Amino acid sequence: MNPATFLTTPVYYVNDVPHIGHSYCTLATDTLARYERLKLGKEKVFFLTGTDENSQKTVDAAEKAGIDTATYLKDMATKWRNCWDTIGISYNDFIRTTESRHVETVHELFQKIYDKGDIYKGTYKGLYCTGCETFKKTSDLSEDGRCTDHPNQEIQQLDETNYFFRLSAYQEPLLKWFEDNPGWLQPKSRTNEIVSFLKSGLEDVSVSRETAEFGISLPMDPSHKVYVWFDALINYYSATRTDSREDFWQSAYHIIGKDITRFHCVIWPAMLMSAGIELPKGVFAHGFFTVNGTKMSKSLGNVISPIALSEQYGNDALRAGLLSSFEFGNDGDFSADNFAEFYRTKLAGGVGNLFNRVTVLITKLCDGQVPVLETSFEAKTIKDEFDGFLERKQLKGAYDFYFATVDKANQRLNETEVWKLAKVDKDAADIIFAELHQYLEVLSEMAEVLLPESAPKMKDMVGTDGKVGPGGILFNSGKE
Ligand code: MSP
Repeated sequence: MNPATFLTTPVYYVNDVPHIGHSYCTLATDTLARYERLKLGKEKVFFLTGTDENSQKTVDAAEKAGIDTATYLKDMATKWRNCWDTIGISYNDFIRTTESRHVETVHELFQKIYDKGDIYKGTYKGLYCTGCETFKKTSDLSEDGRCTDHPNQEIQQLDETNYFFRLSAYQEPLLKWFEDNPGWLQPKSRTNEIVSFLKSGLEDVSVSRETAEFGISLPMDPSHKVYVWFDALINYYSATRTDSREDFWQSAYHIIGKDITRFHCVIWPAMLMSAGIELPKGVFAHGFFTVNGTKMSKSLGNVISPIALSEQYGNDALRAGLLSSFEFGNDGDFSADNFAEFYRTKLAGGVGNLFNRVTVLITKLCDGQVPVLETSFEAKTIKDEFDGFLERKQLKGAYDFYFATVDKANQRLNETEVWKLAKVDKDAADIIFAELHQYLEVLSEMAEVLLPESAPKMKDMVGTDGKVGPGGILFNSGKE
């Protein structure tokens, strides 16, 4: 098969609306998808996102809102989808884990794993956090017996009959997998964490809930619901189960946050091994960011909405501001002041200014005709270097490189004072104009990946058939 790419985001819980943390993950995946489309062609890329709906916390949220669960789920899924549409996410499919295409696939896989002898009935006696939708050990909790991520939520004490997945049987196969595929989970530090977790020993995990009110029933025992994580992970596979998409499975690449690495890099590959399905091609676990140094949380009232930021600054600013602020894979911080400064200096003052000045100068001083450059220019080297960052998934690196290229071009303009030079030595000035125009060309090409809403406007400014387009203001929405 020709190379293809299947990129996924996590399916998000719908007990609340998206915040910039979720948007960070989705925008990162979107950027990689846009890059892959340019490289491989549109039809070779499949970008999936969606919603995780079979969760107890969603049922609780619906109850709290006084709405029946199905209506709540539908409304919330629409809100998530609308948010991604508003901020310009180029997903190819949006999967809801309550859809029948997913439920059928979950049944099929559950049955396969059961038939293989990897699912058995037992008793689960222990702790559960509905906030994380995770079984907990006392050692996972804080001193006062609370979940460190959901301290306001009561930890549940469970004592129920459950079906268990024989995860312990996959300790060795998983260790071998990581040994044979050292780059499978990026960044490397995450692989080290998972490998030491695997070496510490694996216990079987509960994969059904007897008391869950909502969710997918077990095919062999409808009185139980499939544990929400066991169901949710399967979404990636469910979305490829149509004729036109089956080939994409072997190119699956998951972009996730570091908080859910164990689910994706221990349980998920073990489930696939058990079901006899090929493992995805790789996983990238990015970091988390804080807001002004503090964890984003509803109770602290510091949750930032991507829609609000986009309304104030525009979609390109939202994505560029988030993705360029810290290395993809590391943790970072968001602050409104830094964001405003970024907008002012890099976008309006940097990119916007360059495009406007160059097109206006060529219009005025060359009658709109782009002079032909005879000397060679580094456009190809620029593009190759840029591609290198994206191949390595260094999103911040790609943005930094982009802005450094803008600075170089602006510097060339300022240092040569080409507007003065044109009056005394037009031939010399023409060389500079042509070079600056080539900068605009390559910058507008790279913008298709990094600043996709501005890219068509940039192309209009670059113009066609040797004629520059009209000048204009690319970034003027920074109303502070
Ligand atoms: N539903 C599960 C995922 C199932 S995937 C089979 C889930 N959903 S979630 O909505 O709680 O969060 C999903 C992802 O949102 C996280 O893994 C992470 O990618 C992203 N983030 C949530 N908060 C974030 C930050 N503060 N910073 C960066 N990313 C964050 O877990």
